[in-house]
Amino acid sequence: MKKLYGVIGAPIEHSMSPLIHNDAFQQTGYNAHYHAFYIEPKDLKPAVKGMRALGVSGFNVTIPHKEAIIPLLDQVDEAAERIGAVNTVVNKDGLLIGYNTDGKGFVEALKEVTKLNNKRILIIGAGGAARAIFYTLAKEQGVQIDLFNRTASKAADLIEEFSLGHLAESITMKEAIRRLEAYDVVIQTTSVGMFPQTENSPLPLNVIKQGAVFSDIIYNPYETKLIKDAKALGAVTQNGVHMFAYQAALAFEHWTGLFPDTNRMKNLVKEQLGGISC
Ligand code: ATR
Repeated sequence: MKKLYGVIGAPIEHSMSPLIHNDAFQQTGYNAHYHAFYIEPKDLKPAVKGMRALGVSGFNVTIPHKEAIIPLLDQVDEAAERIGAVNTVVNKDGLLIGYNTDGKGFVEALKEVTKLNNKRILIIGAGGAARAIFYTLAKEQGVQIDLFNRTASKAADLIEEFSLGHLAESITMKEAIRRLEAYDVVIQTTSVGMFPQTENSPLPLNVIKQGAVFSDIIYNPYETKLIKDAKALGAVTQNGVHMFAYQAALAFEHWTGLFPDTNRMKNLVKEQLGGISC
């Protein structure tokens, strides 16, 4: 029988998850369909009950339910528990198990363009996305991570919560600019530069390290101002499509045991967005 998967969130109408997952089902020959469900916060609890009753095989969770869904699940894996957010649920013989593929998805995508061992990294932001990325990145050998956030105390809290003071430091924008030439990798996780405020950048760039990698989790616009600035200075750049594809591929793998073609996923999203280059 055809299996059913989906994504719950609000808003959800512009989600590109149905596009890439349905294509991946087709590509892999897995007999399943993926549907986007518009679920408001007041309906989360009955929606999860409905998922159980209908025997939905698995689903993604997006804004605004990633944290609120945790108490409604039967189990949550360690990373999702520590990050405090679930973006993927697997229905394993009636048990709903939560995972977080955002952090791992980002790091896997980043590893396509750079090794991470012993790298000096700047993370801009300290919100939900930064949290997943920071937690996952901190497991890489020898990394040294600076966190710069508009609200510095939130970056400091994150470092303290994960007990990572030995490898991470909360710094000001001034300090981030001063250290810019030392970073091998700069990761942008805030909403600054997102459509429609596309002229904004969270960090002015003058000079960067030769061969530095700049990765922005935003993909609308396809290239943020930060990415354009970094490119102009010779950086290797990545937009948010890469993380989006990898978090989806890892979710797909949790559900089916198969790892789909991430390049195909990226290209589908790129076509949909009318983008020029990944
Ligand atoms: P997400 O889950 O997408 O990470 P979030 O948890 O609301 O969203 O986090 C948003 C991030 O963007 C935060 O780091 C936030 O900075 P603050 O902690 O100071 O709020 C950052 N952010 C949002 N708007 C910003 C702005 N105009 N300037 C600088 N940082 C901004």
